[in-house]
Amino acid sequence: MKATDELTKEHEGIELMLRVLQTVAGKLKSGERVNTENLNGILEFLSIFVDKCHHGKEEEFLFPALEDAGVPRDGGTIRVMLSEHEQGRRIVAKLKDAVTDYKSGDNANASNVQLIINEYVALLTQHIAKENTVLFPMADAKLDSNKDTEIFEAFEQLERERIGVGKHEEFHALLNKLEHEYLR
Ligand SMILES: [Fe+2]
Ligand SMILES: [Fe+2]
Repeated sequence: MKATDELTKEHEGIELMLRVLQTVAGKLKSGERVNTENLNGILEFLSIFVDKCHHGKEEEFLFPALEDAGVPRDGGTIRVMLSEHEQGRRIVAKLKDAVTDYKSGDNANASNVQLIINEYVALLTQHIAKENTVLFPMADAKLDSNKDTEIFEAFEQLERERIGVGKHEEFHALLNKLEHEYLR
């Protein structure tokens, strides 16, 4: 598999989670109480799967390889991607705090959680679209197959070290469960 194919597959998982999040936001808006265990699972997915694992692969291996291949870091696509990852991190930190307040049982915090979810979904939706249509085709054009294999192996190692094989399966199981609960 090509490195960008793996990232594209992960985008599909993340987009599924974004759809779950939109449903959750809709429930919060209509005053329905959302299962807090599900909210914990979603937060873990966003910080470990999306940020540590997926954004980690892009930042630590794909972007540097593109720079080595002559794509400028400053003032271009890579800089925008990095700053969006940073924004995503800040939004997830805010969401964590808001969910903690919500879990204390005060429904007044529901609209705060809902607004932060909307902010996150909007950011990640356009971020993923830009990577799929601009950044990954650029990577496919610029990286030769040796470099690509090297990056793909680095991705596998990052995943083993940072989240572990079993954890990856757990995230897929969580996605399945949430899909059944919120999107069927
Ligand atoms: Fe990214
Ligand atoms: Fe990405």
